[in-house]
Amino acid sequence: MTLADLSAVFELGQQLFTAEEWPTLYRGWDEHELLALFHSEGETCLVAEAEGRVVGFALGRVMEKPRNAWRYGWLLWLGVRPEFHRGRVATRLLRRLTELFVAREARIMLVDTDEQNRHAVAFFKRQGFGQAVRHVYLSRNLDDHPRNIERRFEDTDAEDD
Ligand SMILES: CC(C)(COP(=O)(O)OP(=O)(O)OC[C@H]1O[C@@H](n2cnc3c(N)ncnc32)[C@H](O)[C@@H]1OP(=O)(O)O)[C@@H](O)C(=O)NCCC(=O)NCCS
Repeated sequence: MTLADLSAVFELGQQLFTAEEWPTLYRGWDEHELLALFHSEGETCLVAEAEGRVVGFALGRVMEKPRNAWRYGWLLWLGVRPEFHRGRVATRLLRRLTELFVAREARIMLVDTDEQNRHAVAFFKRQGFGQAVRHVYLSRNLDDHPRNIERRFEDTDAEDD
């Protein structure tokens, strides 16, 4: 992936990772995340092209954990233009990313997706990923936090002035 691919990758991601299809708030596709990843992990950000046009991407990073000798390759975002689905684009991106992770001495590769994302789950299983671990996301409404209540009063006062 090069600097010139950024906008095409961003647009494709926006098309693929919509709020409805990607209901969790915890991991969202936005330009800041894409730019930060490209800036710090450009070596493991890949695109697939057909006739000069970006048709897929795989964005990953190598992670090291303190007190753990193992290195991990984490595939953060994988997407393929819908017209190209089932055309082995993702398979080829994953294969290349895996080679890059192995070259950087990663011993385990991690991926994550929403449990309801059947296509991605089927794809990852087909690629040999297993040992799914469930993760629970919790949330708490902060509207009643004293600072938020105060802020609402401040806003009302400002409107009245
Ligand atoms: C998941 C995704 C990346 C797969 O890309 P792809 O290029 O279509 O995948 P491939 O053609 O390499 O698929 C290889 C195998 O994976 C499995 N697979 C892929 N898509 C599937 C689907 N829609 N339904 C069932 N199995 C599927 C199949 O076993 C397939 O082999 P087959 O076609 O011989 O049956 C693509 O569907 C996508 O971009 N989805 C939206 C974004 C997303 O969810 N990303 C993953 C989380 S970050």
